[in-house]
Amino acid sequence: MRQVTSSRVGLRRCGGADAAAEHDPGAHWEQVAQEWTDWARTPGHDLFWSYRTVFRAFLPPPGAATLEIGCGEGRVARELSDLGHHVTVTDIAPRLLAAAEAAHSADGYVLADAAQLPFDDASFDRVVAYNMLMDVADMPAVIAEAARVLSPGGTLTVSIVHPFTDRGRFTGPDVDAPFTVTGSYYGRAHFSSTDRRGGQVMHFAGWSHPLEEYTAALTAAGLASPSSPNPAPSEVLDRPA
Ligand SMILES: C[S@@+](CC[C@H](N)C(=O)[O-])C[C@H]1O[C@@H](n2cnc3c(N)ncnc32)[C@H](O)[C@@H]1O
Repeated sequence: MRQVTSSRVGLRRCGGADAAAEHDPGAHWEQVAQEWTDWARTPGHDLFWSYRTVFRAFLPPPGAATLEIGCGEGRVARELSDLGHHVTVTDIAPRLLAAAEAAHSADGYVLADAAQLPFDDASFDRVVAYNMLMDVADMPAVIAEAARVLSPGGTLTVSIVHPFTDRGRFTGPDVDAPFTVTGSYYGRAHFSSTDRRGGQVMHFAGWSHPLEEYTAALTAAGLASPSSPNPAPSEVLDRPA
């Protein structure tokens, strides 16, 4: 039997969270701040705990100043601090930023939209965006802003939930169950889902982007080399009329 470690499925409406807030990331995350804090702080509860060691190894060594955008309740910042980074965190949701501060997660706390950071150009030599680029309304603008505040030669470290997570689902619990995508993989699509695990409930909402849109945004911001695009099948295949 396959252990389902992520149940984020569905480009669909969820029942519990406020429908209007779902399209406003600040309002949504403020509304689910306590849910997220409980969810994120339960050891072993989500994939963060499985990827934690790899994430720590993947990070560049501490530089002069590290910025985490979309810090939530602060667990990633606590990892960075533990590794010796001098960390400033930002989030758009006041309750989450307050939770991060109450847990002494970082050295500085700034309430800010990641698309409009109140920092000078080249203020940081490390920027981290951990599982938040799916949550912002304008992902390319946030990547451009991260590039602006990075000093030359600095590093942006990104973690995202793979877009397939929100585009389809396994059709059964067996390890070889087919994964089916309903609708298209291409284009930006809003998702919302209600995850239940270990007696906790979490309402997620955000936007699913094909991987190509991330690499295009990184390339446009000067942070990645141009990469092969994922052309839509209709562009490369002859289809029967
Ligand atoms: C899934 S949580 C991830 C939190 C943390 N990085 C972690 O991995 O534990 C996404 C976070 O992004 C924040 N967020 C969403 N849109 C944002 C924006 N435009 N600017 C800054 N933070 C934003 C949310 O408030 C939330 O705290």
